[in-house]
Amino acid sequence: MKINSVFISNFRSLSDFSLNLPHKLLIKGKTGSGKTSVLEACFVLSSGKSFKTYDIKDCISKDSQNFYIESLFDDFEGYSRKVSIGYDRKGNKKIIIDGNISSRKDLLKISYPVVHSPDDMFIVSGSPKFRRDFIDRICFVEDDSYFDDMSEYIRFIRNKNAALKEKNAEVVKYLNAAAVPLIDRIRKKRNVSCETINRKIGFLSEKLFSGMKVFFTYNAEENCAEKLEGKLEKELEKGFTVYGPHLDNINITTEVGSAKNNISMGETYITSFLIKLAELSVYAEKNEFPIFLIDDIFVFVDDETKKILFKEVESLKNQIIMTSSIENTNNFNNIEVFYLSR
Ligand SMILES: Nc1ncnc2c1ncn2[C@@H]1O[C@H](COP(=O)(O)OP(=O)(O)OP(=O)(O)O)[C@@H](O)[C@H]1O
Ligand SMILES: [Mg+2]
Repeated sequence: MKINSVFISNFRSLSDFSLNLPHKLLIKGKTGSGKTSVLEACFVLSSGKSFKTYDIKDCISKDSQNFYIESLFDDFEGYSRKVSIGYDRKGNKKIIIDGNISSRKDLLKISYPVVHSPDDMFIVSGSPKFRRDFIDRICFVEDDSYFDDMSEYIRFIRNKNAALKEKNAEVVKYLNAAAVPLIDRIRKKRNVSCETINRKIGFLSEKLFSGMKVFFTYNAEENCAEKLEGKLEKELEKGFTVYGPHLDNINITTEVGSAKNNISMGETYITSFLIKLAELSVYAEKNEFPIFLIDDIFVFVDDETKKILFKEVESLKNQIIMTSSIENTNNFNNIEVFYLSR
């Protein structure tokens, strides 16, 4: 996938902005000049969502009623596409692909982005939710039926919570028993995805950092029927579920134990970046090359590490758009630089 051009209107601080995008681009500019907003707009137009906010209305410029983004891009199969997306304050959205009103699902069939921003350091240092979301994304890509499993699981949790609220133990027991195979299936698929991503991280860390040890660990092999029964009393007392895949712990382990509490800021950055490179390599295996958006590239790492990571980024087949307010452009050989001024 490659975005060739974007036109951005009333999106955050960008009122009327156009840019032609080469294969590799660094956007430089002062603090608050709109670099992240350009990346965010590229993310929105290739996924229908933002990576900065759950409420996409936040992206509408403060004095406007709607934003509009238009782009010409080559989709995963190399076909030229014209995509435009608009959102207004009332929550109306319009996605148009090649002149046809389309859905977000249609859009995701022809494009999706991968982003790395400093916020992704939470995958390493934040709560297990960040790691579950990451591993689930790999599951969605690896296994077409995972989406249906997760939809079924969300329905199960909703029904179970309703029964728990009413303290209806019989219904909860019935729902639990019916959900056991589903829970086992979700956990098995997550285990497979952890193994896949660990293989990719292992390969990359061997290549780039002579074998820096980083891997996901997911210990959810236990007997889930027994566990559901054991938690029943507590759940009835609380009136909501306290156990299941939506609360499972997924860890990242390094040489010094759990990454969460033990590694440095720079190591956290490198680890989160390796994880995203590993994700890209899962997609590459399926011959899909999403755009890679890198916000505030290589903050928190030393010059030596930057060089190693730059070389890797430069060698990727993916289109890459990155931002920095500080980066010295001497490091770049094949990367164009665009200076953004307010
Ligand atoms: N809805 C909005 N309407 C108008 N301006 C907004 C909106 N949301 C954010 N902004 C402003 O847009 C400006 C650009 O933000 P952006 O995050 O793109 O800057 P940046 O160039 O990435 O800065 P930094 O180098 O600090 O990361 C900021 O001043 C921000 O406060
Ligand atoms: Mg920024």
